Amino acid sequence: MAAPETVLITGASSGIGREMAKLFAQDGSKLILAGRATDKMEELAEELRTKHHVEVTVMTVDLSTPPGAKDLVDQLDTQNFQIDVLINNAGFGQLGRFEDIPLQRHQDMLQLNIASLTELTYRLIPGMQKRKRGSILNIASTAAFQPGPNAAVYYASKAFVLSFSEGLYAENAEHNVWVSCMCPGPTRTGFGSDSEMENTPVFRFNSMAVEDVARAGHNAVRKRRRLVVPGWINWLGAWSVRITARPMVLWVMKQLQPMKS
Ligand SMILES: NC(=O)c1ccc[n+]([C@@H]2O[C@H](COP(=O)([O-])OP(=O)(O)OC[C@H]3O[C@@H](n4cnc5c(N)ncnc54)[C@H](OP(=O)(O)O)[C@@H]3O)[C@@H](O)[C@H]2O)c1
Repeated sequence: MAAPETVLITGASSGIGREMAKLFAQDGSKLILAGRATDKMEELAEELRTKHHVEVTVMTVDLSTPPGAKDLVDQLDTQNFQIDVLINNAGFGQLGRFEDIPLQRHQDMLQLNIASLTELTYRLIPGMQKRKRGSILNIASTAAFQPGPNAAVYYASKAFVLSFSEGLYAENAEHNVWVSCMCPGPTRTGFGSDSEMENTPVFRFNSMAVEDVARAGHNAVRKRRRLVVPGWINWLGAWSVRITARPMVLWVMKQLQPMKS
């Protein structure tokens, strides 16, 4: 029998990452859960071992710091793990006027959402190419499709993730390495309160269950999809911005995502 694939999930302590861990565990995959909240990940690891009889390892790492990605890869190397599936899921957002948000919060977001995601991919993709087997799923957002007044850095960070993922998709198909990007819309996780976006019209009128979004991500890996936008309203929104004049898109986004009162 072939050895089970090894799946690394960043941001596996809660939300979409946690739910995706459950789906890969159901498949019998060997899991590595990475994030800062060690207790929450240990609790999930125990649940998955008991329910699905899979091997689960917890790795504590802060990916909003520059050494984070290398620290994580060092932990993988020390324990001789080869990664077959990389889920770059960890990320956060922040509502607010650009200059009102502390610079450190912007820097942490750029490090986590962009720099660490890029570095983890850089460090892990050569092994996949060499073995001619691998999948990477990057979690962007419907924020990737247009600018976001009052959350400008978050939206721009997700535009990077989408563009980066599609570029790598085209580069890597010939290596049998599949780079997918999932762009969820508002999803009921801790993200809404952490980013202070949960009371914006964007969140109040259209949010999805985390289980459904995780299933779309799992499916994207299994079906080697280039791009997945879960939920038909999100899908419609993502495509309609492509045929709408930019000033109109910006005006609508400003109404949908007003400043904190
Ligand atoms: N929920 C939404 O509405 C929504 C919509 C579109 C896209 N997304 C994207 O989906 C992804 C997952 O978010 P979620 O909705 O599941 O939110 P969540 O429940 O807040 O989960 C975020 C995860 O990221 C991890 N994380 C945060 N800071 C980290 C750090 N410095 N180092 C390592 N891990 C860190 C957290 O783990 P620790 O706290 O343990 O570190 C947590 O497990 C994010 O990239 C987000 O941008 C979410």
